[in-house]
Amino acid sequence: MSKVWSNRFETGLDPFIERFNSSINFDKKLIVEDIDCSIAHATMLGSTNVLTKKESDQIVDGLKQIKNEFKEGKFAPAFPSEDIHYCIEEKLINLIGEVGKKLHTGRSRNDQVATDLRLWLRKRIDNIDSLILNLQKSIYFIATQNLYTLIPGYTHLQRAQPLSLAHHLLAYLEMFDRDRNRLSEVRDRVNISPLGAAALAGTKIKIDRYMTAKELGFKDIYKNSLDAVSDRDFAVEFISASALIMSHLSRLSEEIILWVTDEFSFAKLTDKCATGSSLMPQKKNPDVPELIRGKTGRVYGNLHSLLTTIKALPLAYNKDFQEDKEPIFDTVQTISDCLKAMDILLNDGLEFQKDNLMNSVNNDFSNATDVADYLVAKDVPFREAYQIVGGLVKFCLTKELLLKDLTLDTFKKFHNEFEKDIFEKISPRNVVHSRNSIGGTGFDQVKYQLSIWQKKLLN
Ligand code: ARG
Repeated sequence: MSKVWSNRFETGLDPFIERFNSSINFDKKLIVEDIDCSIAHATMLGSTNVLTKKESDQIVDGLKQIKNEFKEGKFAPAFPSEDIHYCIEEKLINLIGEVGKKLHTGRSRNDQVATDLRLWLRKRIDNIDSLILNLQKSIYFIATQNLYTLIPGYTHLQRAQPLSLAHHLLAYLEMFDRDRNRLSEVRDRVNISPLGAAALAGTKIKIDRYMTAKELGFKDIYKNSLDAVSDRDFAVEFISASALIMSHLSRLSEEIILWVTDEFSFAKLTDKCATGSSLMPQKKNPDVPELIRGKTGRVYGNLHSLLTTIKALPLAYNKDFQEDKEPIFDTVQTISDCLKAMDILLNDGLEFQKDNLMNSVNNDFSNATDVADYLVAKDVPFREAYQIVGGLVKFCLTKELLLKDLTLDTFKKFHNEFEKDIFEKISPRNVVHSRNSIGGTGFDQVKYQLSIWQKKLLN
């Protein structure tokens, strides 16, 4: 097929360079958006009388037919078309003849590709948002079932203080909520129309940029034609928001990987989300969270890749921009897959071992702070109480005992204010229950948070 380029060229491209130059193998993903963009442009050219009504209708009908053929699997964009934009234009000209050559009036591939990409990304952001919402609902339901399940809380990955498992899970709901807010802010900046900026300087053709923007559902138009064709901030912002989503998924994955080890045994994997070893028959591996953790690197890489691509580009369009697509496409694919996989893992792939969790919080020193707080309530200054309990823990360690195993007499040897209610006060359930400061793990606080999430997620 001959190239659309002007007669300025005498020979064709070197065959290797022709492939090197082309982007059709990946930008064919933009086909629907490219056609929609062209339909809006051609309709507008008809209504501003740049084209006759008949010409505009013929072009729009041809484009709709191409879209249908594509949807029915009868048309597949492919090399040797250089990119999706040329591919559709060539196909249109083949289909409706000479009038097809008028589609590109007052438009450049530069504003076209920028428009297509925004349309494509806008749709994917909406889909990713609903995937995060689904995941949040799953986490919420697991949390509601585990208000009174206790889990050791850690700092430095050392036992710190016991928690309600629901409280632990709700921390992830907060993270994913920030992710959704960020995505919606990014969406606002994706949702601006560059169409009509033409190659870089605008056009003398009578176009109506507001009309195409409205037709395509954009909320505003770019005010500067150079900025319109050379801005990829929206894509960087999208990948950056995605990188944070991946970091949240990855941290949750890491916890699950720890929880299902023999050493922790806080949860176990069902057969739906675990794999075996080819050699060691006893193994059950957490491939799903490991893959999510691993794929986080891809998305971080995509962010670096795009930032580096744009960093020294003079205004306005440069072919370097063709390299923006694969990091964006890969990010959308990776993040959508990981959100789905995590949702399946949480719903069907993971079972908390409640007895083991209970056992863990009953058999450690994570109630030590509460022994100190007990003395604080009897007017012992905190720092003094802290030292006393340090001594108690040391004593226990030498005797291989836990704080709850000590006799009241022993407690009293360390401080006279200890009474027999100390044993009740340091039971894990009371320890958790008593942390009732706003945002704390106390059951009343967590119940309140659950009620807020219920309204937010289920209405
Ligand atoms: N395939 C190109 C891209 O993805 C389309 C825009 C080409 N524009 C140009 N002036 N060569 O960026």
